[in-house]
Amino acid sequence: MVQGTPFLLVLSMALVAPSFSARKCILTGSWTNDLGSNMTIGALNGKGEFMGSYHTAVSATTNEIQLSPLQGSQHNTNKKSQPTFGFTVNWKFSDSTTVFTGQCFVDEEGKEILKTMWLLRSRVDNLKDDWKATMVGTNTFTRLHSRK
Ligand code: BTN
Repeated sequence: MVQGTPFLLVLSMALVAPSFSARKCILTGSWTNDLGSNMTIGALNGKGEFMGSYHTAVSATTNEIQLSPLQGSQHNTNKKSQPTFGFTVNWKFSDSTTVFTGQCFVDEEGKEILKTMWLLRSRVDNLKDDWKATMVGTNTFTRLHSRK
């Protein structure tokens, strides 16, 4: 019994330790970014696809901002704890489209964070203006209502 105690201690630590470090980053929920924009991502389907809505805090246009739909997918559902993903926002108040790509991380405090890059394509009137039609940038998202 005394001999078995260290073995049981090591075994229990090996079983419990991964659950502390490997918290999964989950895309579903409400997020806010460094510009003050908010988005909500719905449940993922069996193929890792999702839908949601995006409320941008800023616009390249002078149009009145409206809630806009997004569609995307997450890579390797259920396999990796910090998955990559991408989504497209079809802006309802402008002729533009934005694509985001990023990775869902869990930081040292267990807080989820989405690191993304985006391309915002604006509509231009003619081919000659194509060169100025695409903006690029980064956004960092954190959860609006943190998980327990
Ligand atoms: C438009 O201006 O035509 C549509 C709105 C674009 C908002 C952009 S998308 C990338 C960046 N991140 C945000 O949260 N908002 C801006």
